[in-house]
Amino acid sequence: MTAIYPGSFDPITLGHIDIIERAARCFDRLYVCVMMNADKKNPMFTPEERMEFVKKAVARFENVQAESWQGLLTDYAVQKGATVLVKGARNVCDFDNEYQMSLINRSIKPDLETLILPASAPYIHFSSSMAREMIRYRQPLQEARLFMRGNGVYLLFDTPQ
Ligand code: PNS
Repeated sequence: MTAIYPGSFDPITLGHIDIIERAARCFDRLYVCVMMNADKKNPMFTPEERMEFVKKAVARFENVQAESWQGLLTDYAVQKGATVLVKGARNVCDFDNEYQMSLINRSIKPDLETLILPASAPYIHFSSSMAREMIRYRQPLQEARLFMRGNGVYLLFDTPQ
């Protein structure tokens, strides 16, 4: 069974990686897809940078592949032959948003299911938007596994602990 974990990943965090690891155990193949969120028009990282971070983060998972897509998620699912979308939820707010998105996606493609995985306890208080805020103020980013270099280039650690 093939699944897709879509997101803007601006940037990917340990919380995302935890969802990827758990979803990879449930499916034969998992595509982690870097996409555009129309509500987040000014990403901090370019699509290429976000993709580079995601690629490094998923390198250790044999059945996980990083890709990017600029169109409709349901079209991507058709192209990949995927039957499930994976989403993570840290709280009721996330759940409500993902529930609504699942209804929209199912209205477009009724046989495409959404599996909402609850975030693991260590990651419920951290988000990409918090990572962006910390980057802006040059705070250490253990949770996102990002390094800061003098010229403002940020790199994900290559090997998770
Ligand atoms: O990490 P995010 O920002 O919550 O991810 C949201 C994302 C990118 C998965 C969502 O915005 C999305 O699916 N965008 C692609 C366009 C699409 O298919 N929208 C839903 C149907 S209108």
